[in-house]
Amino acid sequence: MIGMIWAQARGGVIGDAGDMPWSLPEDMARFKAITMGHPVVMGRRTWKSFPPRYRPLPGRENIVITSSDDFVAPGARVVPNLDEALATALAIDDEVWIVGGGRVYRDAMARADRLEITDIELDATGDTTAPVPDASWRVVMRDPAEGWHASRTGLRFAYRTLERRAERPRERHGSLVE
Ligand SMILES: NC(=O)c1ccc[n+]([C@@H]2O[C@H](COP(=O)([O-])OP(=O)(O)OC[C@H]3O[C@@H](n4cnc5c(N)ncnc54)[C@H](OP(=O)(O)O)[C@@H]3O)[C@@H](O)[C@H]2O)c1
Repeated sequence: MIGMIWAQARGGVIGDAGDMPWSLPEDMARFKAITMGHPVVMGRRTWKSFPPRYRPLPGRENIVITSSDDFVAPGARVVPNLDEALATALAIDDEVWIVGGGRVYRDAMARADRLEITDIELDATGDTTAPVPDASWRVVMRDPAEGWHASRTGLRFAYRTLERRAERPRERHGSLVE
């Protein structure tokens, strides 16, 4: 299972100037609960976005992608591309979480089975956006089902889980074959 997890403001903004333009402790707690014990895959910029005292993310094998030969990420495995990151992660565990950022989410979209998205009711200015799930995805859970949770920060937010639809029947000779 390859999952991707992110939080987004209206319009899909996930980051600005190397950081997230909000603070949502409830989302951080959920991120920790979902990813704990599983390998996490991230781009070099996302690794850099964590304050040094918070990296590597504890209790999880951290796998960082970079094209640089001499990049050092103490406590993490450094790999040269997404394929190697996923192969490394899946050799450790059959549940893997891609934790950012925009480039890696976009590149990994076709490989993912599940998306855990936190929607934040916020108009944020940002330079990084999440990919938009296409029609091959369906929402299997929204929490709350309607409306919003209220954060102790005052922000309103909701969680969505998306999974891939079962593959559509293939069309052969003009007719649908189950
Ligand atoms: N809201 C959220 O849930 C969330 C989650 C995570 C991150 N973020 C935000 O997202 C932003 C970072 O995203 P980003 O798109 O700028 O960067 P990113 O995806 O975190 O990292 C991009 C970097 O990773 C390396 N990389 C990625 N794919 C590669 C490949 N196939 N081959 C070789 N290297 C590869 C490259 O590093 P080199 O340049 O070293 O080659 C590239 O510059 C930050 O603002 C962060 O706070 C938000």
